[in-house]
Amino acid sequence: MSFSGEWLALREPADHAARNKELLAGIAAYFAGRTDLSVTDLASGQGSTLRAVAKHLPPGQSWTLVDYDEALLESATRLSAGDGVEISTQRADLSDDVASVLALPTDLLTTSAFFDLVSKPWLTQFVKEAAKRRLPVYAALTYDGRMSCAPHDDHDAAAVAAFNRHQRHDKGFGPALGPTATETAQRLFQSAGYKVMLGPSDWRLSAADADLQRQLIGGWHDAIAELKEMPAASLAAWREARLAAIDNGTAELMVGHQDLWAVPA
Ligand SMILES: C[S@@+](CC[C@H](N)C(=O)[O-])C[C@H]1O[C@@H](n2cnc3c(N)ncnc32)[C@H](O)[C@@H]1O
Repeated sequence: MSFSGEWLALREPADHAARNKELLAGIAAYFAGRTDLSVTDLASGQGSTLRAVAKHLPPGQSWTLVDYDEALLESATRLSAGDGVEISTQRADLSDDVASVLALPTDLLTTSAFFDLVSKPWLTQFVKEAAKRRLPVYAALTYDGRMSCAPHDDHDAAAVAAFNRHQRHDKGFGPALGPTATETAQRLFQSAGYKVMLGPSDWRLSAADADLQRQLIGGWHDAIAELKEMPAASLAAWREARLAAIDNGTAELMVGHQDLWAVPA
């Protein structure tokens, strides 16, 4: 599944505003006093996690960004994360062989907007490999199935339910965990002996986020249309109502996410 650089750039400010501050403080405290630190960011895209997290960690960081999209990795190296941060990239298909990526020497594994794309067998393998190396894991911005729109439209509930069903479809890793990802990750990490902390990182979008809202409604519309479950006329009416509210500045959108910080006990 591919993601455009424009889309990732558009969502980055909302992602940064949404990231759970308590969990970021917990990560900062965990690594406080370290003089060097290596981090592996999985499914890094253009490096949004690097830019969100580096400022909470001590200087002397070395980050390896892993993604299968070469163009996104190239952009990541152009978008600086500030002084004291070394960046390298590794192109890898994580659906193929996560074990060899996790075998890279590292102190911290990070990812964002990714756990909802993977399957339960993939996540099980990931947790097993991370636990074998006793690596702490920060996984941010996992979609959790909560979504609410204002002003109300009669088709909202049907559209959200259909979108959540679409989220369970294969995104390249087998049947996707979608909205169940955080709950599944929590259980898997706890069974592997980790202490797990969760915190909400919801997007709360308003008139200032009109472009992001428009893109989201367009993307959700197309995903729901693929399912062919919701009557086409209802889906079209829903999109028109949502876009009209965005155009007249009254639209608000809440998209529920969870951040997870898991440390080996
Ligand atoms: C929603 S984007 C999130 C990107 C970034 N973490 C962020 O928060 O901006 C999902 C990322 O997963 C990457 N991805 C999806 N499937 C992948 C795979 N099989 N192997 C490696 N990367 C993959 C995409 O290229 C994309 O960069």
